[in-house]
Amino acid sequence: MLGIQERCDELARWLEADYLGLAEDPGGLILVAELETTEPPQILGFAAFHRVIDEAELRNIGVHPEHQRQGVGRALLEAGRKRLREAGAKRIFLEVRPSNEPALGLYYSRGFWMYRLRKDYYRDPHEDALVLALELFPPAVVPSTP
Ligand SMILES: CC(C)(COP(=O)(O)OP(=O)(O)OC[C@H]1O[C@@H](n2cnc3c(N)ncnc32)[C@H](O)[C@@H]1OP(=O)(O)O)[C@@H](O)C(=O)NCCC(=O)NCCS
Repeated sequence: MLGIQERCDELARWLEADYLGLAEDPGGLILVAELETTEPPQILGFAAFHRVIDEAELRNIGVHPEHQRQGVGRALLEAGRKRLREAGAKRIFLEVRPSNEPALGLYYSRGFWMYRLRKDYYRDPHEDALVLALELFPPAVVPSTP
């Protein structure tokens, strides 16, 4: 994961201790996509989530630049969505830079929607953050009354 982080400027700069702390947290979920045809398996990407009761957050997601646009990010999000839903989460939130078009393309294609704008959130470079949300239990369709 740190290797992917070094190659992706857009990723949150985490230390090894941050990943270890999340892995040990009962609400933490770190999914890793591997290429099994190499020995040892090559890590293609990862997604790090945290859940508190029925709300989850996607804290970090990255795919190795040589393997981007091959469906890895989509597969990681889908696996996370399934696991978090089974664990009782009703919604996943995340923060993203408005300038991060690949990430926005991925999130919007998976059903995330714009929840709110967080002003002046990022530094280096300075930028607002979009807070996106994904509903894991869409409300039942209520039939219209005649
Ligand atoms: C964002 C990221 C995780 C996407 O992962 P990926 O494996 O390349 O994405 P996928 O191949 O699964 O793409 C799924 C969909 O996302 C959208 N998408 C992905 N990359 C895109 C791009 N460069 N431009 C526009 N849309 C894109 C498309 O809708 C795509 O579907 P399609 O290929 O059928 O058109 C990857 O680009 C990455 O690691 N970026 C650097 C780190 C980062 O920005 N993390 C997010 C921080 S908030």
